[in-house]
Amino acid sequence: MARIVDTSTKQLRAANPIDAMLCLFCHNVSFPCTRNGCVNMEHFKVIKRHQIEDESERREKKLYLGYALLGAHPILNQTVGRMRRAAEGRKEELFALSSAHDVTLAPILSALGLTEARFPRFAARLIFELWQDRQKPGEHSVRILYDGVDVTFHTSFCQDHHKRSPQPMCPLENFVRFVKRDMFVALGSGSTNYYDACHREGS
Ligand SMILES: *[C@@H]1O[C@H](CO)[C@@H](O)[C@H](O)[C@H]1NC(C)=O
Ligand SMILES: *[C@@H]1O[C@H](CO)[C@@H](O)[C@H](O)[C@H]1NC(C)=O
Repeated sequence: MARIVDTSTKQLRAANPIDAMLCLFCHNVSFPCTRNGCVNMEHFKVIKRHQIEDESERREKKLYLGYALLGAHPILNQTVGRMRRAAEGRKEELFALSSAHDVTLAPILSALGLTEARFPRFAARLIFELWQDRQKPGEHSVRILYDGVDVTFHTSFCQDHHKRSPQPMCPLENFVRFVKRDMFVALGSGSTNYYDACHREGS
């Protein structure tokens, strides 16, 4: 396949080609040809196998989680910022939509602690909802949906919530605390902020 697309074999490790190939595969469009030949289903199967191997390797080594936490922090921080502004009653950003590659979505899922989530399927979607309590308008909660399934209580910031609280929803504060503090604690390098965590040697 490297010969066909005229690149180095190293460049073709799972994460790079799977993104483009999955789209063609899911639409039943044939893989591209060059003057050196055509990419075919056998290539796709090998790439898919690499990807599954890489996934299980990442689960074993903690290194990937560190990468995921740092990589996902900016978008989660932005999301928390928007939710807080909306919770304060500001109405200018009631809906935000981002579109990204599956290789961007994957570390976000890992950072949230959704370890069950496999490599994102084609057109996967992740939704962050902010809820307000009608009886107590000062109380806000979050709900996280992945491909339409409520995964709020699988996230690392709300998985113990039921055990500790009678409140049926996950408080916004849990998500805020996670992004502002616990994501760095999870890195385990003693950092307490993003800058520090990104510049720490050997971690
Ligand atoms: C996919 O395309 C091939 C030919 O290009 C066709 O034979 C096959 O029926 C298609 N499969 C589906 C599920 O549409
Ligand atoms: C997180 O977002 C806030 C604004 O909501 C911003 O002031 C802060 O610098 C951001 N933190 C990082 C580490 O990006």
